[in-house]
Amino acid sequence: MIELPIHDYYPQASQLIYGCMNLGGGWNSDAVTDGDIRQAQEIIETCLEHKINVFDLADIYTFGKAEEVFGKVLKANPSLRKNMMLQTKIGIKLTPTHEVKQYDLSPEWVTTAVNNCLKRLQSDNIDVLFLHRPDPLMDLDDTAEALTKLHKQGKFTHLAVSNMHAAQIAWLQSAISIPIVANQLQMSLEHADFVEETITTNMKEGCNSGFPRGTLEFCEQQNMQIQAWSSLALGKYSGNPGENPTEADVATTKLVSQLANRYSSNANAVVLAWLMKHPINIQPVVGTTNIKRIKECAQAPKLQLSRDDWYLLFEKARGNEVP
Ligand SMILES: NC(=O)c1ccc[n+]([C@@H]2O[C@H](COP(=O)([O-])OP(=O)(O)OC[C@H]3O[C@@H](n4cnc5c(N)ncnc54)[C@H](OP(=O)(O)O)[C@@H]3O)[C@@H](O)[C@H]2O)c1
Repeated sequence: MIELPIHDYYPQASQLIYGCMNLGGGWNSDAVTDGDIRQAQEIIETCLEHKINVFDLADIYTFGKAEEVFGKVLKANPSLRKNMMLQTKIGIKLTPTHEVKQYDLSPEWVTTAVNNCLKRLQSDNIDVLFLHRPDPLMDLDDTAEALTKLHKQGKFTHLAVSNMHAAQIAWLQSAISIPIVANQLQMSLEHADFVEETITTNMKEGCNSGFPRGTLEFCEQQNMQIQAWSSLALGKYSGNPGENPTEADVATTKLVSQLANRYSSNANAVVLAWLMKHPINIQPVVGTTNIKRIKECAQAPKLQLSRDDWYLLFEKARGNEVP
């Protein structure tokens, strides 16, 4: 594995992050089974063996069951905890019957949610607490006060955000003295609008990019780590084409496979290596539960794509050469 300097809030962190969204037996009300716990344990151990030591959770994943199985594995194997960095997210609220989805960063919900995470994770502390999504009804000062209190109580060490643009992060940081250390956004070879916004300034086609302009640059200037969710694009170019792939999808998949051969690697690693070539030093969050695919992903940090191949992949995926 190539040692790339990941943010100094956790210098030992791996560049790859394992995303636990699919652990816990699915998005249903079934109780966690022994099989779900065994699956989580096998995945955690495989990740650690392959030098993936950051685990990404959220209170809502599989309605709390992802954190629950993770906590059960930690309880049965306490030595695992010191070898990993645990991050979880709060701020999306699903009622007990899950009928009114909403974002909630009120002081009451933030406090309840953090305590619930710790209980399910059977841990005293969360290494990095993420605010999952911005809440339009948030009162900045009240939320900042609640977070500061939880931080002083040692319930989380670092604060981070997800799905936020530069101005939202700056606004939040203006009221809270705990540094915001990371931002997690959707980024992949398929969801490449973070590159589109870079190259289409002052062009009509740039208006179609959903990526908030200037956010990467802001995060870099503020020394914040960028993490990419759905980084494998759900396997779109590496074995899971979905229904009705476009001409561009087919061409990209073919190129990914050719590059996998040329670099003596595999398709999943090529898709991740494309993200990791970006100089902002992205941490891809991978959510496959397939052990073979996890091992393939773990090869990505060794794969250094050439500049030509990076652009070729980008061109194939967007269906056109760059302007
Ligand atoms: N911050 C946020 O708002 C946010 C939102 C979504 C996700 N996340 C985080 O990001 C992580 C990853 O996201 P994700 O799971 O949506 O995306 P992903 O890592 O791009 O894809 C994983 C999914 O795609 C399937 N897949 C991947 N490669 C495949 C292949 N070659 N062939 C067949 N199936 C393949 C996996 O199935 P198998 O399990 O069968 O391999 C799994 O269902 C999550 O676990 C979570 O931690 C964060």
